[in-house]
Amino acid sequence: TQQIKKKLPLKGKKVLVTAGPTYEAIDPVRFIGNHSSGKMGFAIADEFSSLGAEVTLVSGPTTQHNNYPVERIDVVSAAEMLKACQLHFSTSDIVVMSAAVADYTPVHVASQKIKKKDNDLSIELKKTTDILATLGKEKKAGQILVGFALETEHEEEHAKAKLLKKNLDLIVLNSLNDKGAGFQTDTNKITIFNKSFEQTVFEVKSKQEVAKDISNEILKLIGK
Ligand code: CTP
Ligand code: CA
Repeated sequence: TQQIKKKLPLKGKKVLVTAGPTYEAIDPVRFIGNHSSGKMGFAIADEFSSLGAEVTLVSGPTTQHNNYPVERIDVVSAAEMLKACQLHFSTSDIVVMSAAVADYTPVHVASQKIKKKDNDLSIELKKTTDILATLGKEKKAGQILVGFALETEHEEEHAKAKLLKKNLDLIVLNSLNDKGAGFQTDTNKITIFNKSFEQTVFEVKSKQEVAKDISNEILKLIGK
């Protein structure tokens, strides 16, 4: 049993992971989206599953698939992702929010395809609910909440501010200034900050290896 414990340190733990972009509908044929591939979140979900955890993966539109057993919930919009996360949050021991959630969504969704006119089109937008910050407010003692920060400038300062504001235990800084990091790549370059603002800097690695680094930091946090 000692060996099983070592191999499956998260047996009996529930992990909630989000992945991919969200699509915010404008009309029946158009949406506002982003270039997130979902690769990072799927790699994280697989990694936790391989460690023995019971993984729920809430995924936006993506072509990715899992290599380990996970319960996958497909969503489209930020509002749907929020609902799915709230449904599973209270029973989760660890939550990793790697989805690239839209910050804004159209105020009105046209029921018919918007027709081209002589004048320009403008689309009125409203802010989406910050899922991570919402979960941060609901977080109970013992729950681990991990977020990402995607930055192009003042990276460290912005990442630390998000860690505090959203009541996170760890934040994974994804710097788009680094070569080999980002949305459509197979590799990533991350720095992880904990609540004491201690930082761990990692090399450019495959997203599978980055997922291992993230899970290792979480295992350290929970003393496994
Ligand atoms: N996030 C979320 N819900 C949103 C927006 C973001 O849960 N509506 C989460 C992301 O999944 C990520 C973290 O918040 O884990 C940080 O996302 P990021 O886009 O870097 O930061 P924002 O707080 O949205 O601020 P900004 O985009 O202005 O930098
Ligand atoms: Ca954002």
